Amino acid sequence: MKELIRRAAEDLAAAGNVAALTGAGISIESGIPPFRGKGGLWERFDPMEFAHIDALMRDPAKVWKVLVREMKEIVDRAKPNDGHKGLAKLEARDRLKTIITQNIDGLHQAAGNTDVIEYHGTFAWQRCMDCHKKYESRKVDISEIPPRCDCGGILRPDAVFFGETIPAKAMWRSRQAAVDCDLMLVVGTSAVVQPAAMIPVIAKDNGAKIIEINPERTPLTDEISDYLIMGEAGEVINRIVAAMD
Ligand code: APR
Repeated sequence: MKELIRRAAEDLAAAGNVAALTGAGISIESGIPPFRGKGGLWERFDPMEFAHIDALMRDPAKVWKVLVREMKEIVDRAKPNDGHKGLAKLEARDRLKTIITQNIDGLHQAAGNTDVIEYHGTFAWQRCMDCHKKYESRKVDISEIPPRCDCGGILRPDAVFFGETIPAKAMWRSRQAAVDCDLMLVVGTSAVVQPAAMIPVIAKDNGAKIIEINPERTPLTDEISDYLIMGEAGEVINRIVAAMD
């Protein structure tokens, strides 16, 4: 690991345009469960029954009662960890330009990153399913489920459910960041969900170096990544930043 940390510090110092793709793994140390693997949300809830747009349209109260309320409470109390803070330090030192995150927790922005593309939307806002008016989640009273808009419509998280498309601007900007970067950090994603998992492939196709940070191997490891640093995001990113000093 020591050798790879030193190599990553050198690669980051030499890079011209750095982007990062992050997944649920970077927020585990903030108390937010991953989706897959041990303790993953999808071990407890069937995503097609609780996180698919058809399920939300069919029975919003059920989706709210089971998944949304639980996730909202966890996300509302979560704080950025060393992984998020380390990426913010890289931006502050002009060593990281854009973060493309699959996470809906807003922790990159809370850590201080200023260019964050929320590829799967966010839980920080709720949207009316009728008039599309938006409400800050923290201010939404969920004593009555599902919460309602002033127009009477049902509120839903402004996040992308299975069966929905990626917001066009996020898709376009992410593609641009992948094409333009010459180094991409891929942190804490199982890289099995499309189209997000294509982003490192696009970056690689355009000549970028891919550094993966994950305690486990992923489908990217042998095919796309230049190297994998097997460890937890908080510790690894902290050590890379320290090595750059
Ligand atoms: N640091 C870094 N990575 C970690 C850590 C850690 N401390 N702990 C676990 N991981 C890794 C796991 O090995 C796994 O590869 O994080 C990854 C989490 O994978 P998933 O739970 O599948 O999360 P993600 O890749 O973000 O899922 C993609 O799927 O369910 C949908 O919309 C949801 O955005 C989500 C998308």
